[in-house]
Formats: sequence, C-alpha cells, structure tokens
Amino acid sequence: MNKINIAEKFARFSEHYKPHIAAELNGQYVKLVKFEGEFVFHHHDHEDEMFLVVKGRFRMEFRDNELREDEFGNRHEWIEEGEFIVVPRGVEHRPVAEQECWVVLFEPASTLNTGNIVNERTVAQLERV
Ligand code: NI
Repeated sequence: MNKINIAEKFARFSEHYKPHIAAELNGQYVKLVKFEGEFVFHHHDHEDEMFLVVKGRFRMEFRDNELREDEFGNRHEWIEEGEFIVVPRGVEHRPVAEQECWVVLFEPASTLNTGNIVNERTVAQLERV
C-alpha cells in the first residue's frame, strides 16, 4: 500500500509511447506514458481507455466511421493538463503531442497500446516503474 508519486515515476523513463505499469487494481492497470509526436490510428474492440494528462497537452484525433461521421467528421479534442478523456471501445483514435506530454492511463491489464494494430510501436510486455 505504498503511495505513488507520479512525477517521481515519470522521471524513471524517457521513451515515448512506451507505457509503464505504475499500479494494478481490479484487473486494471494504471499506466504511465509519455507522448511526443504522432502515434498510430487504432481501436480496441473490447476495452474503453481513459487518458488523464498530468503534464503538457495532447490532441486526440478520431477517424471517421459510420457511427460518428455525421456528428463528428474529422473530430479531434485537445486534452489539457488536468483533463481526461475516455475513448469508448471500437472508436478509432490517435494521440498526437506537439511537445512531450505525460499521461496516466486506466485500462484493463489485457489492453495492447496499439489495439488492433501490431507494429513497431506495439509494446506487448510492459515494464513496471
Ligand atoms: Ni488506444
């Protein structure tokens, strides 16, 4: 039951788009990740994802699909420090950060960072921090 200092944990790694596990509860991981640059568009078939910004800001981009086309065509949302967003399962999304941004993720332990995509950005085995 040790408390976690978020800044101290973020200081322990420097890679971008490589989530690290900070804690686990109820089958969910609390992951820490540094965003910089563009990630890859992907979705998660079975998992909702929560992104909480603790430093900096990033833009979450959503790709058109039939469900969202009329209402949200080419939609994106800036997530500022102290804000969070929940991306529902099935929604195509891509984080983009113009400068380094520190993000806390809450998601099931099974969630793959690149969702339905497997590429050089995929991190299957997460390190603990
Ligand atoms: Ni995702």
